[in-house]
Amino acid sequence: MKFDEIKNDKEVAVYLKTADDNFRAIGFKDHGLRHAAVSSFAAGYVLESLGYPEIEVEHAKIAGYLHDIGNAISQEDHAQIGAVLSLNLMENKMPYDDIIKIISAVGSHEDKGLDPVSPVCAAVILGDKSDVHRARVRQKDLSRFDSHDMVNYACLNSAVSVERAERMIYLRLDVDENICPIMEFFDTFLARIKFCRQAAKYLGCGFDFYINNSRM
Ligand SMILES: [Fe+2]
Ligand SMILES: [Fe+2]
Repeated sequence: MKFDEIKNDKEVAVYLKTADDNFRAIGFKDHGLRHAAVSSFAAGYVLESLGYPEIEVEHAKIAGYLHDIGNAISQEDHAQIGAVLSLNLMENKMPYDDIIKIISAVGSHEDKGLDPVSPVCAAVILGDKSDVHRARVRQKDLSRFDSHDMVNYACLNSAVSVERAERMIYLRLDVDENICPIMEFFDTFLARIKFCRQAAKYLGCGFDFYINNSRM
């Protein structure tokens, strides 16, 4: 299966819609089509920019798109559930050598504190964890925000960029400091940054993080 087939697959659309509906029901931020597309794009972009072979870029795009489909079943262990759903989806439609690379990236994308298992997994972590944006917050009552809502709502723009020659990956965020003071933002975001840095290191790159043009 090619990335475009995955993106247009009816089963995948149902998983993503259900995951998003389930999260909406409990007041959680977007985990549907938008997050899948943003994570997929960034994961593919990272590997492509670093000169990885086309097949690995394709795997990163697919794994980035599928990484959260397990939330359609349960948030707990959603990575591993998503890996099994992805296996069912692709079985007999792709060589197992390709499938395993995709499902291991899906299954391990929340393994914080551990090194990524592959370049594809590292790219998915970077794509997933760098997706912070106001558009992800459904709850519009600021008084009911948790810290993650606050961080996402405060973020007006986020962009991942790669400088291949410098072996550097950058995440630049535009943050509304009236919604969330920078230090508070940084505190909440720190775990994600550490995970991104670990993923970048696996790819042989440094990772720098900017808020409102200031390096953190
Ligand atoms: Fe996830
Ligand atoms: Fe995600």
